[in-house]
Amino acid sequence: MPPQASLSQVGKMACRCTACHLYKRGTQTVFGEGAAPAPLMLVGEQPGNEEDLKGHPFVGPAGKVLDKALAMAGLQRSDVFMTNAVKHFKWEPRGKTRLHKKPNSKEVQACHPWLEAEVERVNPRLIIALGATAGTAVLGRVPRIGAERGKIQKGKWFEAAVLVTWHPSVILRSRTHEEREQRLKELSVDIQLALRHSRKLKPSSSPKRETPR
Ligand code: URA
Repeated sequence: MPPQASLSQVGKMACRCTACHLYKRGTQTVFGEGAAPAPLMLVGEQPGNEEDLKGHPFVGPAGKVLDKALAMAGLQRSDVFMTNAVKHFKWEPRGKTRLHKKPNSKEVQACHPWLEAEVERVNPRLIIALGATAGTAVLGRVPRIGAERGKIQKGKWFEAAVLVTWHPSVILRSRTHEEREQRLKELSVDIQLALRHSRKLKPSSSPKRETPR
């Protein structure tokens, strides 16, 4: 990765990525978007069906939940940078639909240089990891979302502070209306906490610590 490459140049390079087999299955690379530099960076798992077709992160049903949680926290998506741990949609055919498949650790690792490049250029003070896959990509270990949700932590790979919280898809899959509302509130409270904490932190000039190989 040329260190002088801009975020949009890196995004163009990511469009030609063949580091794992997922480029054969996805329609296109879905690179991160939003404010850059930004105090807050939100990391999801991977693009979903709509993101894959449109080429933008969080523009499907999970993105609507995320927009709602951001608005409840007093933020808009243009205030933050949004990306995913894996930049291609992993799916398998199920009748006429494309069924989401969770990326494995090799795929997450293959995509890590793109996440590193985004972090280096966006230089967030705090990274919000949405769900376990994002948490693993940022912390360098598998987090227990139930126990670790809403805590400010230090990750293995980046200088930025880390907060792990619900993935918006988990909110969509809630069993009851009450559970859904509760998790949505928790997500927005976590985003608010992250925002408040990020305001106390200085931007780090060297966001990268080491790389997973
Ligand atoms: N889920 C994600 O993790 N990322 C997206 O961009 C959309 C859905």
